[in-house]
Amino acid sequence: MALRKTAFTTALALSCGLSMLAYAHSGATGIVKERMDFFTQNKDNLKAIKTHLRDGDLGAIVPLATQIRDWAEKMPAYFPAGSDGKPSEASPQIWLDFSGFERAASANYQAANELVLAAEDGDTKAALNAFKATASTCKSCHKSYKLD
Ligand code: HEC
Repeated sequence: MALRKTAFTTALALSCGLSMLAYAHSGATGIVKERMDFFTQNKDNLKAIKTHLRDGDLGAIVPLATQIRDWAEKMPAYFPAGSDGKPSEASPQIWLDFSGFERAASANYQAANELVLAAEDGDTKAALNAFKATASTCKSCHKSYKLD
């Protein structure tokens, strides 16, 4: 379902090109809305993971951390040039240093992947460390690439 939607959006973005981006500017629609939804999911997942860590339910962490990891991998593709401006909080810095933005997404991917592996292994200490690393890669990207 999500995949089909992504494929559809990609096709739409390719066929409509600039008009699609212009549409996104008028409100949280199109690709801007989609990435905001993924980020909101990230926040909810991080919060739920914290609870599961406290309760020692590592198994429940696996799908949540996997979702964070998979979004990190797709993230740069959801930031086409020109998709900033209200209501987006994307900083213009993203397009001035796109490889830095990709590296920040990749750091988030790696930390979330460590969390997936630690949770699968049932290694609480490693999971805690990977959780902290994941949260800090969210923060450091926001510091450089998100307006507040
Ligand atoms: C590589 C950079 C990057 C990483 C990593 C990243 N974010 Fe973000 N985040 C952004 C940017 C840029 C925006 C602004 C998007 C927009 O408004 O168009 C954003 C927006 C958000 C928002 C606001 C969504 C909304 O509806 O306006 C939340 C919440 C959020 N991020 C949470 C997280 C969490 C939690 C993580 C880590 C698990 C994370 N982000 C990782 C760059 C990142």
